[in-house]
Amino acid sequence: MLKVCVCISGGGTNLQAIMDAIDAQTITNTEIVKVISNNKNAYALERARKKGLDAVAVSPKDYENREKFHEAFLACVDSAQPDLVVLAGFLVILPPLMIKKYAGRIINIHPSLIPSFCGKGFYGLKVHEAALARGVKVTGATVHFVDEGTDTGPIILQKAVEVLPDDTPKILQQRVMEQAEWQILPKAINMIANGQIISSMEEKNI
Ligand code: GAR
Repeated sequence: MLKVCVCISGGGTNLQAIMDAIDAQTITNTEIVKVISNNKNAYALERARKKGLDAVAVSPKDYENREKFHEAFLACVDSAQPDLVVLAGFLVILPPLMIKKYAGRIINIHPSLIPSFCGKGFYGLKVHEAALARGVKVTGATVHFVDEGTDTGPIILQKAVEVLPDDTPKILQQRVMEQAEWQILPKAINMIANGQIISSMEEKNI
């Protein structure tokens, strides 16, 4: 059984897609052992609790500085002893120590075709605003391993989505979620759980 810790910041539709895929057994050999939010009011926490999952908030607001928050966050992840950490709409930069400790065992979903519209400052709706401003005709989503950079780790899966003439950032965001994110994130987890992807990052660490 792959023990997964899911980190979220907001609505949690990607978390929902993972939970639904576990129920539908399109993800197998996988158990969500913890859900962590940096935001106490994230609706994703409610989604997780409704499922009976262990869901907690570790908010930077409760700590005197970033270092103390990082320590508490890492301790919370460690307490779940996960095999895999899934960033499913987690909008906080991870502690560098955590990236080292969990090298090859952290994945992230990003709402564009990396290397377009990614990196510092590109998150959530901002990604779709930038795609529309540039006038791209195709966008999509990417699941990748997390390294020390922002959205720079090895790519696992990508799926393209068409941009339509009357799209607003919100309409495009919804289409990218439905047609790409909610499909490729569960798929990547299932592939990892069933040994179909082996992270080269982890190998380097051995
Ligand atoms: C998703 O679109 C996800 O790709 C994005 O935040 C949204 C969270 O939605 N993540 C990033 O932008 C990371 N750079 P959700 O809470 O409904 O799953």
